[in-house]
Amino acid sequence: MSFLTPVEIVERLDRYIVGQSRAKRSVAVALRNRWRRRQLSPELAADVYPKNILLIGPTGVGKTEIARRMADLANAPFLKVEASKYSEVGYHGRDVESMVRDLMETSFRIVRDEKSKEVRAKAKDAARDRVLAALIEDRDLDPDEDDPGYGMPEDEVQFVQDGGLWRPMIGSSEDAPAPLLGDNELAARRTERESARAELATRLDAGDLEDERVSIEVRDKSTPSLSIMGPQGTETMGIDTQALQEMWGRNPADRTKERKITVSEARRLIADEEAEALIDMDEVQQEAVERCENDGILFIDEVDKVVAMGGEGPDVSRGGVQRDLLTVIEGCTVYTKYGHVSTNHILFVAAGAFHQSKPSDLIPELQGRFPVRVALSALTEEDFCRILVEPRNSLTKQYVALLDTEGVTLRFTEEGIARIAAVAFKANKTTQNIGARRLMTALERLLEEISFDASEMSGSELVVDEDFVTERLGDAGDDPELIKYLL
Ligand SMILES: Nc1ncnc2c1ncn2[C@@H]1O[C@H](COP(=O)(O)OP(=O)(O)OP(=O)(O)O)[C@@H](O)[C@H]1O
Ligand SMILES: [Mg+2]
Repeated sequence: MSFLTPVEIVERLDRYIVGQSRAKRSVAVALRNRWRRRQLSPELAADVYPKNILLIGPTGVGKTEIARRMADLANAPFLKVEASKYSEVGYHGRDVESMVRDLMETSFRIVRDEKSKEVRAKAKDAARDRVLAALIEDRDLDPDEDDPGYGMPEDEVQFVQDGGLWRPMIGSSEDAPAPLLGDNELAARRTERESARAELATRLDAGDLEDERVSIEVRDKSTPSLSIMGPQGTETMGIDTQALQEMWGRNPADRTKERKITVSEARRLIADEEAEALIDMDEVQQEAVERCENDGILFIDEVDKVVAMGGEGPDVSRGGVQRDLLTVIEGCTVYTKYGHVSTNHILFVAAGAFHQSKPSDLIPELQGRFPVRVALSALTEEDFCRILVEPRNSLTKQYVALLDTEGVTLRFTEEGIARIAAVAFKANKTTQNIGARRLMTALERLLEEISFDASEMSGSELVVDEDFVTERLGDAGDDPELIKYLL
């Protein structure tokens, strides 16, 4: 769970997103509230419901970007879905409940990975031992065979009388004189094989054998999976095919297969296998359900797309999707293959541009489920300048790094940046407003030629200044026709 304070969360979001401070603050508070609720007594916590957030703002101002960055910070099961992907129960398509199943899947993966990290060291040791055993077997150095005859049923071992002693005989040919091993020879054979094994172990641990191929028993993953298709696909029916296979005694986990693979690959495969064996899957499942229910966050993007628009188009199921959404958001129990998951305390963050519709066009009950409303502001020209340079992976940084791989030094001057922002801003005004996405088109257009020629330009330096931009993107972007054509 996120231990970051709201201030810290906003600070992290600032690294990637320019402006939109209200949205950042509400997201930060919501994340922190998850942690706060965890500190309460169970009775009180049961009644503290998450304050779901609705982010509203024009296209390309950072709604989805906030969701993406939130995912990194949440440190909790987090899933971003597009509302437009779902359809009403009974219609063809994914039903709304499947988002909870997918979230549960994420939660399970998180918990399993955490646990497997805990047992990693043990699993690695076990893998090393199994690989060593396989190498020993490949070289016929099995300790069981240090003493010929040892371990064999007594009546199969041939003993030959040697003086007053009976000694085991190697080989069974009647004609060939039986090679006899005296005590000394036996001891010598043992020592020799032992030291060969020790040397093998040393070389294995030193990493000298990583590329060598070894035959080893590994789990057979190629078992064809059994699938039962319902009208909506297997997963929407909540049927656990693995459980069915186990029930029918075809547990794919039990099937092994001998494969000849490199030592390094064997180490990896076996460590995974061993890690899985060391993990108590029931415990993982329980914890994953618990975390999904209490820490889970569902980000529903494009909610405005499920608003039914008066009569036009195939809207029949949109109102239905809203009602299905409402059921999930109000709190229901969804059956997943890991068990029942209650959605009462899952945090929902929804976002939408609401261009052609208003939040008030959503069905009233659904509106009521998003008490925190945040309007994201349209971006200014000034914001565009900052978006070009400030974020950790800003567009200009990306281009600089990309061209650097060709040995071309790219530099943006302040005036150059300002000019790009101005042209993009103007283009948004004169044509369609696509927000910060316009910057991508503008930059791509600006550097189109250089991107093409860069491979032949190694060693050169390129400065993107005002003139450079004007030259390529038109004069101050004043001519709307030109802008339309250019961007
Ligand atoms: N405030 C911002 N700070 C930094 N980058 C931004 C900002 N707003 C938008 N961007 C950039 O613009 C791109 C598009 O933004 P985003 O996907 O967040 O738009 P959106 O608000 O979800 O729009 P839509 O309603 O069309 O889905 C992002 O990839 C991001 O790089
Ligand atoms: Mg978006």
